[in-house]
Amino acid sequence: MTDTPKIAVLISGSGSNLQSLIDNCASGYIPGRIALVISNKPDVFGLERAEKAGIPTRVIKHRDFDSREAFDQAMGDVLEETEVDLVCLAGFMRILTAGFVDRFQGRLINIHPALLPSFPGLDVQQAALDAGVRFSGCTVHFVDEGVDTGPIIAQAAVPILPDDDAKTLAGRILRQEHRTYPLAVRLFVQGRLSIEGRRVHVAEAQSDDSAAMINPPEAPG
Ligand code: GRF
Repeated sequence: MTDTPKIAVLISGSGSNLQSLIDNCASGYIPGRIALVISNKPDVFGLERAEKAGIPTRVIKHRDFDSREAFDQAMGDVLEETEVDLVCLAGFMRILTAGFVDRFQGRLINIHPALLPSFPGLDVQQAALDAGVRFSGCTVHFVDEGVDTGPIIAQAAVPILPDDDAKTLAGRILRQEHRTYPLAVRLFVQGRLSIEGRRVHVAEAQSDDSAAMINPPEAPG
């Protein structure tokens, strides 16, 4: 890795996770810098966030390409020109080809608004409500060839409350995404992550043997 690790963030929308990464690079919590933001859609708010922070942006429209492979090839070339150490998917709404995943293997991560491996894919807040689970949350994981299947780096759990709908639950999860993604990126750029099979080892991680959340919260103390 170069002295100050270079991060690229891929977005398709509002970019609130991008903002949390920008803020945490600025504060020094993440010892790296965002060198490039790529959006597959023009006019999304995430691009404004990047421009406001003085970060170079590129719009690469998937519709301009004949195939997924050609789109991914173009995006991969731009990322390699920029010599990025880490590629973060942050609300990037395109499924990546095996070729792209292979090209950035081990340095491509994603955030997903559920506790994987439960509820991969889309509309996962409603899926969690429909399944009646008592907790949901978010997951940051390395990207492999599957959809939301790669080795897990970090998760945050939130309770599901009786009056929740998909929107209130999504908001509660998103607040934790804004803490969990910077944590995972920090661990990556500090060189503290290693993958063994499906498991990610975090060097010098603290562990709390008695940590637990119970929902509904009426258990004996
Ligand atoms: C987040 O919920 C993220 O987990 C999912 O897409 C959403 C993006 O939100 N992959 P934002 O664009 O970062 O605000």
